[in-house]
Amino acid sequence: MRRTAALRALIRETDVRPDDLIAPLFVKESIEEPVPISSMPGQVQHTLESLRKEAVEIAERGVRGFIIFAVPARKDAEGSEAWNPDGIAQQAIRALRGEFGDEAVVIGDLCLDEYTDHGHCGVLNERNEVDNDATLERYRRIAVAQAEAGVHLVGPSGMMDGQVAAIRDALDDTGWQDVGILAYAAKFASALYGPFREAAEGAPRFGDRTGYQEDPANLEEALREIRTDIAEGADVVMVKPALPYLDVIRRAKDETGFPMAAYHVSGEYAMVKAAAANGWLDERRVVLELLTSIRRAGADLILTYHAKDAADWLRG
Ligand code: PBG
Repeated sequence: MRRTAALRALIRETDVRPDDLIAPLFVKESIEEPVPISSMPGQVQHTLESLRKEAVEIAERGVRGFIIFAVPARKDAEGSEAWNPDGIAQQAIRALRGEFGDEAVVIGDLCLDEYTDHGHCGVLNERNEVDNDATLERYRRIAVAQAEAGVHLVGPSGMMDGQVAAIRDALDDTGWQDVGILAYAAKFASALYGPFREAAEGAPRFGDRTGYQEDPANLEEALREIRTDIAEGADVVMVKPALPYLDVIRRAKDETGFPMAAYHVSGEYAMVKAAAANGWLDERRVVLELLTSIRRAGADLILTYHAKDAADWLRG
């Protein structure tokens, strides 16, 4: 059954389609031209106009989901630009929703690290630790601001306890019952987010995120986080990063049967790009193999910076 391509196609168990992919896009306030991200070759910080153009080009290839990360010009201790109705994130959401209507899924990453001057995912208490419950109050405001701007889904990525319940409650309270939640449920404290922190300008100024993101050693804890987010009202649960955590995806899919997303993160992308640039790996074959593996492990959808190229390759 392996002898010819036609035989192999008959018994292939897993496929990757462009509409399984979600493209993460960065937008930055107050820039005139797109700014390349050196650790993520091929990715840029967009202007509003280049963001719109790039999303259209990606959508033409059959990718129908976008998640927006925004870098504001002004940061403060609270991250207040995150819920400014005219802030850069809301402008970008409005631009994409205006462009696509319901033809694509517009997702807002919901966190504070791009917006706070200290770079943590929440507000701090007097001991300079992230204050979980005070942060939830800010997340509620961001959810409503993103809903008003037109998101189909919000993607809370800060790993605060109770964040899904708080956001669900805020959306329901304000008439946004139909806005769904793509929950970063099992987000590990990974070294593979390094390039993203250049792209989103959200590296913590002190300390790290091990106080709120998960220990890479813990599978059972990840499953508890996933079950908790489902119970709190998540519509899709996500594991992040993807490749080092395929076991988490598989167990969660088997045990919950819930829609699962995987975030194939910036460091995973950078490794492939660096090897390909050196001629050490065949980029196209590697990317398609990796994406297939993430799907095989049980992910229904994949957030990936390879989305545009992969969609081209998948269409032949
Ligand atoms: C935090 C956030 C991060 C990523 C997505 N949302 C970084 C972090 O937790 O430090 C990483 C994504 C990637 O590496 O591609 N809001």
